[in-house]
Amino acid sequence: MAFSGKSVLFLAVFMAFSGVYGRYSTWSDFLRMPQTEDSVGTRWAVLVAGSSGYGNYRHQADICHAYQTMIRGGLKEKNIVVFMYDDIAYNEENPRPGVIINRPHGEDVYAGVPKDYVGDDVNVDNLFAVILGNKSALTGGSGKVVDSGPDDHIFIFYSDHGGAGVLGMPTYPYLYADDLVNVLKKKHVSGTYKSLVFYLEACESGSIFEGLLPEGLNIYATTASNAVESSWGTYCPDDSPDFPQEYDTCLGDLYSVSWMEDSDIHNLQFETLKQQYELVKMRTSNFETYMFGSHVMQYGDSGLGKEQLVLYMGSNPANDNSTFISRNELPSFSKAVNQRDADLVYFWNKYRKSPVGSIKKRNAQKELFDVMAHRLHLDNSIELIGKLLFGSEKGPEILKTVRTTGLPLVDDWDCLKAMVRTFETKCGSISQYGMKHMRSMANICNAGISKEVMAEASAEACTRIPTTS
Ligand SMILES: *[C@@H]1O[C@H](CO)[C@@H](O)[C@H](O)[C@H]1NC(C)=O
Ligand SMILES: *[C@@H]1O[C@H](CO)[C@@H](O)[C@H](O)[C@H]1NC(C)=O
Repeated sequence: MAFSGKSVLFLAVFMAFSGVYGRYSTWSDFLRMPQTEDSVGTRWAVLVAGSSGYGNYRHQADICHAYQTMIRGGLKEKNIVVFMYDDIAYNEENPRPGVIINRPHGEDVYAGVPKDYVGDDVNVDNLFAVILGNKSALTGGSGKVVDSGPDDHIFIFYSDHGGAGVLGMPTYPYLYADDLVNVLKKKHVSGTYKSLVFYLEACESGSIFEGLLPEGLNIYATTASNAVESSWGTYCPDDSPDFPQEYDTCLGDLYSVSWMEDSDIHNLQFETLKQQYELVKMRTSNFETYMFGSHVMQYGDSGLGKEQLVLYMGSNPANDNSTFISRNELPSFSKAVNQRDADLVYFWNKYRKSPVGSIKKRNAQKELFDVMAHRLHLDNSIELIGKLLFGSEKGPEILKTVRTTGLPLVDDWDCLKAMVRTFETKCGSISQYGMKHMRSMANICNAGISKEVMAEASAEACTRIPTTS
């Protein structure tokens, strides 16, 4: 198939507008009394990169960086459980074999990261077993679990693609919000933590906790975005003249690098969760413009916000004299790219940089074209299903409906899972990009459509709109 000049132009224009530089404008300075060491039980961390593939470099880079932050803070390796597919450091496309960075010219964050759960062991069942400390439920991996007690503090950080009510995994199936929150409830019932903090980077990540995570579990969560918007990749190619030319992919995610770069320079015996939330919110919102940025949200027990970060992340002794959060210390802002479009950036750069007329260029062009065709296929088939189910007037509107804030995405999660499976049977895998359409699937459930009717509509839509490669 010919690669249309129009698509190239569209991409070029998209690239040109997909990022802006921001500046820190106003800032407050804070000072708090330090937390005393003896009030801390064991600190545990669970770090999860939910994707695979070189185009998703940034998620595993985020997770490796978080590991270094925790280690420097004083957590012990045996108390940090890492999930990452581990296909980046030695990927043939990695210009620096064996090295992963999380910012331009940043230090190697891969060195020393334990391979607890890699490859296909990065899956939902293992994640739940690790959180619940249930060794007998594990398959593969290092066997490390959160074997915590009632005085302990747990920190969970997850970085990946997501959609309404769902988080990605490099393996099938994806992680659904209701299952995750049920596991957190179970952990609470087991009485094996004092408090738990969950930092979540993904598109529409607010939908994972919205209307689902109750107060009273001693859980405080913040998310990169609200329930209806994308989150953002950052440190992307063409970002700045300074961006290392040899990388074709974004190196980090905006919310993720915002909290880690903050934690890396401060005395965390002073800084509270709430203070970090405010700082991260400012940077991730692109200084409250929300252009190329998202709304960082808080869920669960907001009262925990007054606790110091040291309880969860420790504190690097090298930062002992840094008590103030001053705007001068903060790293400069950089361009951000919508998470869902970050793979286009990757494919586009690969195409652009390959020598004219080379096989590499032809392959890169095909990859880029296939990705775009696949997106179009998903978008069009979902739209057509909506029209078949609800009529061409109302269909698109019903699919896009956003429920009132505070309500979960869907009442019947089993219905949602069944709808996704039904769609996939007729139309092919919903895939990473297709997570964008989870809200439509949820709304089909909320409208009371049965699986059988959905199956018919999917079959018809996907006969009319043929599946791509
Ligand atoms: C641990 O997992 C096993 C296997 O899935 C299950 O049978 C058992 O009930 C679990 N134990 C606890 C304490 O949840
Ligand atoms: C902090 O300041 C004290 C007093 O000036 C100094 O002795 C100490 O070395 C400093 N610590 C660090 C980590 O810079």
